[in-house]
Amino acid sequence: MSEFPPARIDTDRLRLRVPREEDAVPIFERYASSAEVTRMMLWPPHSVVDQTHEFLSAVRDNWERAEGHRAWTIRIGDDPHPVGMIGLMIRNLGGVEIGYILAKPWWGFGIMTEAVRAVTERALATPGIFRVQATCHADNAASRRVLERAGFHQEGVLSHYANYPALGSEPQDCLLYARTVAHSAPRSVEPDFSEGRYDLD
Ligand SMILES: CC(C)(COP(=O)(O)OP(=O)(O)OC[C@H]1O[C@@H](n2cnc3c(N)ncnc32)[C@H](O)[C@@H]1OP(=O)(O)O)[C@@H](O)C(=O)NCCC(=O)NCCS
Repeated sequence: MSEFPPARIDTDRLRLRVPREEDAVPIFERYASSAEVTRMMLWPPHSVVDQTHEFLSAVRDNWERAEGHRAWTIRIGDDPHPVGMIGLMIRNLGGVEIGYILAKPWWGFGIMTEAVRAVTERALATPGIFRVQATCHADNAASRRVLERAGFHQEGVLSHYANYPALGSEPQDCLLYARTVAHSAPRSVEPDFSEGRYDLD
């Protein structure tokens, strides 16, 4: 369990793996060219598929060099094409920062919560990694919910923190979330009293 990040992570429904050259067209068509899906991302939608090729090529180089931004494609079931991506940077002091995006037809099925949990739990099971963090636009309710369901805690508001190309030139307020080795496994929002258990910690 100590290799991190691993080239492949499987969950109940998802297969996370290093991007391949042939992923560029489906990624471009399914979400990278969408103004709606990329609205709360730090990059503008891709206008030509070459931009997606370049991005994936850089990510593949990072995997080969074992440094920088490494990201996995997310695939579901028998679908050979990715529906989204989740990526990370390893920071100093044992910290990891994650980011993610999912094509719109697959929103609302718990897919990103499952992917975030898998990457985070793998990270925190790795010796020397103590913390996984993520920032999101303060108005990104779906992303906040993903992080909360994956056991992250909000640590602060980052005022005028990041530039979102779709939202003008003024840096936007973001929220900082983290899950660390000090946090227990993800908890349900409501305590479970069903069998007389009081799991409140
Ligand atoms: C954010 C994103 C990754 C979520 O992926 P997903 O697989 O749909 O997320 P999940 O289904 O695991 O969970 C979404 C949760 O947010 C909730 N949600 C979705 N839209 C919401 C909204 N507008 N307001 C409040 N809650 C919302 C869902 O109901 C769900 O919570 P629940 O299960 O408690 O009901 C996806 O919407 C996306 O790719 N958005 C565009 C890119 C982006 O914002 N990336 C993150 C940048 S920080």
